[in-house]
Amino acid sequence: MRIGIVGVGVVGSSVVRILQQNKEVIAARAGEEIIPVKGVVRSLGKQRNVDISLYSDIESVLNDDSIDTIVELMGGVDEAFIVAKKTLGAKKRLVTANKALLAYHRYELQEIAGEIPIGFEASVAGGIPIIKALRDGLGANHILEISGILNGTCNYILTKMLYENIDYATALQEAQHLGYAEADPVFDVGGIDAAHKLLILASLAYGIDAKPDDILIEGITKISNDEIAFAREFGYSIKLLGIAKRQNNQVELRIHPAFIKNAEMLSRVDGVMNGISVVGDCVGETMFYGAGAGGDATASAVISDLIEIARSKGAPMLGFKKPFESGLYLRSQEEIQSRYYLKAEVADKTGVLAQIAKILSEEDISINSLLQQNGMNDAKILLSTHYALEKNIKCALKRLGELPVVLSEPLMIRIKD
Ligand SMILES: NC(=O)c1ccc[n+]([C@@H]2O[C@H](COP(=O)([O-])OP(=O)(O)OC[C@H]3O[C@@H](n4cnc5c(N)ncnc54)[C@H](OP(=O)(O)O)[C@@H]3O)[C@@H](O)[C@H]2O)c1
Repeated sequence: MRIGIVGVGVVGSSVVRILQQNKEVIAARAGEEIIPVKGVVRSLGKQRNVDISLYSDIESVLNDDSIDTIVELMGGVDEAFIVAKKTLGAKKRLVTANKALLAYHRYELQEIAGEIPIGFEASVAGGIPIIKALRDGLGANHILEISGILNGTCNYILTKMLYENIDYATALQEAQHLGYAEADPVFDVGGIDAAHKLLILASLAYGIDAKPDDILIEGITKISNDEIAFAREFGYSIKLLGIAKRQNNQVELRIHPAFIKNAEMLSRVDGVMNGISVVGDCVGETMFYGAGAGGDATASAVISDLIEIARSKGAPMLGFKKPFESGLYLRSQEEIQSRYYLKAEVADKTGVLAQIAKILSEEDISINSLLQQNGMNDAKILLSTHYALEKNIKCALKRLGELPVVLSEPLMIRIKD
């Protein structure tokens, strides 16, 4: 197999180095040698420690007839989509780590590809082989639920806040200093990166076509030390979770911070690590844990796709030979049910709690546990609820926010049981 690599940055450099370092074992598994022939970068003048011929012109790689497989590692959506289409148009096989591209264009790419294989193991959870697990290993199952910690930057920040008692801004700064978070971290902390990955997993599990705008996406920017205190008091950790859940003929897809009981395995997935729980109707719960990012871990997944393609184990990109479960549709965000944590900053007066309880009861929401923190002239009410409907919680939040005794916009975080 002779490959061209479009984008020789963090992941691309690792792909080249590992293909050279582990040449024998990779060739033994693939049944042939996988040779990195040409790479494409934006700037040829940049100092790089990578042993491959570099070009700045994408066409010189796409039009090289001696190259049969293109590895797209440039990132972004529009330009990468053009590269992917040209690759498939030239009947070359495609491997990509680009979750943003797939969040928008996976179904179009599958359609264009037809029988040409597309590998995308590296697009979700870096080194964890979750794509092959869902598409192949768990192929016998109806997938009931996927819950994943899919963004290492958010997990690092939340872990630091919980165990080292530092605030959100300081934890974010540390993540940036260590190179986990970008200078503009909005894609990570806003939940968008995790949403891209969840959409890919949902296609494999349910064959459902949704775009980022269709699903509930909340990031971690509102998590403060109050929520950390509540988590400690009641035995939870806080994680940014991606949840894909099937109930009857509906699938709900959501990204948001959630409290998780300390006894749950996902609550032990700390620091930059990723963890994914998949529940199948035959197998029960399976857990996947590992490095969700980093050059070598991601390259490990990229190369696994190259090996699979070299073995000619062709399968449609998203796993289904023919559409199935066509009766499944995306659940509306309003109909999601969860337990909830609510925080309200209130005037320290008698009767405040009664006013809050009245609104919750009118919205069919019952309280599970409650913590009150008193300040000089005000107080914070932190509470968890039993199961309630998302639309009822949103109404209750609006009504609570309008109470004169509630001093700032109340906060809600979902609890994962
Ligand atoms: N880094 C990770 O841990 C990780 C994990 C999972 C998935 N991914 C995905 O893997 C992909 C690559 O990520 P990365 O971290 O390796 O990115 P990166 O370090 O920024 O590398 C991107 C590479 O693409 C080149 N490039 C960008 N636009 C180009 C263009 N228009 N023409 C030619 N070359 C272009 C860049 O050239 P220059 O070097 O000249 O700038 C660079 O070599 C992304 O889709 C990312 O989401 C990354």
